[in-house]
Amino acid sequence: MSAQHIVAVAGSTGSLGKNIAKALLQPPYVSSFSEIRLLARSPTSDKAKELESLFAGAPARVVYFNTEDEKSVDEALKGVDIVVNALTHADDSVVDGVIRNKVKVYIPSEFGVDHKAYVTDVNVWVAKKAHVQKAVEQGGGNLKVVSIYVGLFLETGFGPWLGYDTTNNVYTAVGSSDAIITYTSLDDISNSVARLALLSADPTTAATVPAHVRISGSGVSVKQVQQLVEKKSGKNITVKVVPLDEWKQGLKTTDVLKQILLAAGEGWLDYSKVNSNELVNPGESFWKWKTVQQFVEEGGISA
Ligand SMILES: NC(=O)c1ccc[n+]([C@@H]2O[C@H](COP(=O)([O-])OP(=O)(O)OC[C@H]3O[C@@H](n4cnc5c(N)ncnc54)[C@H](OP(=O)(O)O)[C@@H]3O)[C@@H](O)[C@H]2O)c1
Repeated sequence: MSAQHIVAVAGSTGSLGKNIAKALLQPPYVSSFSEIRLLARSPTSDKAKELESLFAGAPARVVYFNTEDEKSVDEALKGVDIVVNALTHADDSVVDGVIRNKVKVYIPSEFGVDHKAYVTDVNVWVAKKAHVQKAVEQGGGNLKVVSIYVGLFLETGFGPWLGYDTTNNVYTAVGSSDAIITYTSLDDISNSVARLALLSADPTTAATVPAHVRISGSGVSVKQVQQLVEKKSGKNITVKVVPLDEWKQGLKTTDVLKQILLAAGEGWLDYSKVNSNELVNPGESFWKWKTVQQFVEEGGISA
C-alpha cells in the first residue's frame, strides 16, 4: 500500500498512546502513512523526546496539542485523515476538532468495556458513550467512527485493584470464578488500532470495519488464572467468590474498578467468542496474540 494517509495520535505520551505510536512507526504500518503526527501537551518534555527517539526515519513529528487550547487542536488536526484518541478521558473538544478539520476516520478513546449494549450509569462509560454518539451525529456520513473494546489491559489487569491480592494469595471473583474475562496486551491493542485505522481509511475495505469492534487477546476466568499462577509459583491461592447482589450493595457509579469487576462477573468482559480478531489479524498472519498463560509463564503475575 502506498503512503497516503496522515494519522494523528492524541495522548501519544500516555501509556496506551505511546504504544500505539510505536506500532504506527514500524513496519508493516509505517509505509502506509505520509505523515504520523504524535500530539503532545508538552512537545519538549522527556516523554515527547522518547517518542522522537523512535522515529528511525519515519515521516513523523511531535505536535503541540492541548484540548483546552482550540487553536492548538485545529493546528494539530489540519489535513489529518485519521485521528486515534488515547486520552485518559472523553474530551468532546477532540470531536469538535475532528469535525472542524474534516477528519475521515476517528477512533475514540474507548479501549475497555464494550458498553454499547451494557446498560450502565457508571460515569466514565456514560461519558464515553455520549462522546461517541456526538462524533457519529456530527460526523454524519462523512466520518467513520470506530470504537475498539479490548477488555482489560493484560499488563495492568491483575493487580489488587482488580481483585488479585498477590501479597496474601487471595483472588476475589464477583459472581462466579468461571466467568471469562478478556485481557489484551498493549502491543496487541496497538497493532489492532493500526490495522483498523488502515482498513477504515481505505475505501476498498472501509465497509468491512464495524462501528463497534471487540478484540480478544486472551480470555480466562479467575479460576484459570489461579491454576496458572499456582503452577508457576508452587503456592496455594484462595479464590473468594462474592455474590453479585452482595457486590452491588452500596456500589457507587464513580467506583470504576469495582464496576469493572461487576461487569466482568456479569459476563460483559468476555469477548472470547464474539470478536473481530479475524478481521484485524486473519489467521494470526500479522502477529501472535499474547495469552494470559504466556504472561504468567514470563512472571507477569507473581504469587
Ligand atoms: N481496559 C483497560 O484495562 C484500560 C486500562 C487503562 C486505560 N484504559 C483506557 O485507555 C485509554 C488511554 O488511557 P491511558 O491509561 O493510556 O491514559 P494515560 O496514560 O493517562 O495518558 C493520557 C494521555 O492524555 C494526554 N492528555 C491528558 N489531558 C490532555 C489535554 N487536556 N490535552 C492534551 N492531551 C492530554 C496525556 O498527556 P501528558 O503526557 O501531557 O499528561 C497523556 O498523553 C482511556 O480511554 C482509558 O480508559 C483502559
